[in-house]
Amino acid sequence: MIKYLSAAGPKALAGTALLRLDFNTKDDWRMRAVLPTIALLLKHSGRIVVVSHRGRPQGFDGALSLRGDAVKLSRLLGGKRVTFIDHFRFAEIKAQVAAAPRGSIFLLDNLRFLPGEEKNDPALARRLASLADFYVNDAFAVSHRANASVVAVTKCLPSYAGIEMENEIVSLGKATMRPKHPVVLVLGGAKAADKLGVISYFKNKADWFLLGGGSANTILWLKGVDVKRSVKDSDPDELPALKKVAAYKSVISPSDFVWNKEMILDVGPKTVRAFSKKIATARTVIWSGPLGFIEKKQYAKASIAIARAIGRNRRAFSISGGGETVMFLKQYKLDKKFSFISTGGGAMIDYLAGKKLPGIEALK
Ligand code: 3PG
Repeated sequence: MIKYLSAAGPKALAGTALLRLDFNTKDDWRMRAVLPTIALLLKHSGRIVVVSHRGRPQGFDGALSLRGDAVKLSRLLGGKRVTFIDHFRFAEIKAQVAAAPRGSIFLLDNLRFLPGEEKNDPALARRLASLADFYVNDAFAVSHRANASVVAVTKCLPSYAGIEMENEIVSLGKATMRPKHPVVLVLGGAKAADKLGVISYFKNKADWFLLGGGSANTILWLKGVDVKRSVKDSDPDELPALKKVAAYKSVISPSDFVWNKEMILDVGPKTVRAFSKKIATARTVIWSGPLGFIEKKQYAKASIAIARAIGRNRRAFSISGGGETVMFLKQYKLDKKFSFISTGGGAMIDYLAGKKLPGIEALK
């Protein structure tokens, strides 16, 4: 059983919290998503020590420091001070935290500067745990990684799922366990192979898989369509599984395209109409990955139209996620049209592929 922070009494939360967050995005949307958790901890707990990562550094890399995140978080908390700690001398940090007044918030630097983090090192986990009385994971986006601050640390402290983590588990669970039919998955993005796990998990659950982007190009190419110089997967290791998928009756590829210099850069209006019709009847819609080259506005048209079609279907439970898709939805103010926006990229894809996420398993 997962212990949820939302259900923990004030007594359990009275001490110092070690709070794992995920600041691994360019903007602050993952930070905003965890504000309810911080508010709850500020109400009941003595002090909060926030830990996170950014990028994939090999040792210290100033460009990947979290120093700026302390400023961003402080701004989101209405100017409340967030003390940034730029070293990992844990005994010193422990004393500094203990001496601070109640309600203080600290942010440690990028944990991936430490070699033990990605190795799920129990010694690092013990050092992190020494700073607090209990642990909260509100970093769904990194919970597919068995890292010391995600998995090993749960062996050292009473551990809770934060409020955003709870939302993710409930919403993604609703879409995967017993989704209401018709179930429609809109799958785009550059690589079809990245979506293979999701397609095979949903093979008997989804009514339709609507493909766009590089994913569609690959499937069309495997069906003998000349996609010319368009982005596609041609890794021989992945082709047998992709060929299987291409033959599924529920997998619908685009029928018209927007071309530029022998490259498909968006799906065409006929396809948008056909996809929108299917979306209009759906009771569950999951969308991951843009349908076109959305960096350029003229190739974002189909993705905008599909997001709007999802938004118009008020009866459907709709989910989206993945860094690129979410940034796009926010840019066009379409994110609020979805029932739930996941903070996860790879984590969401793994969850939707039916995989057990080590960070969530560790909380059980
Ligand atoms: C993410 O942004 O998807 C997570 O923070 C995980 O990052 P990683 O793929 O570098 O482990």
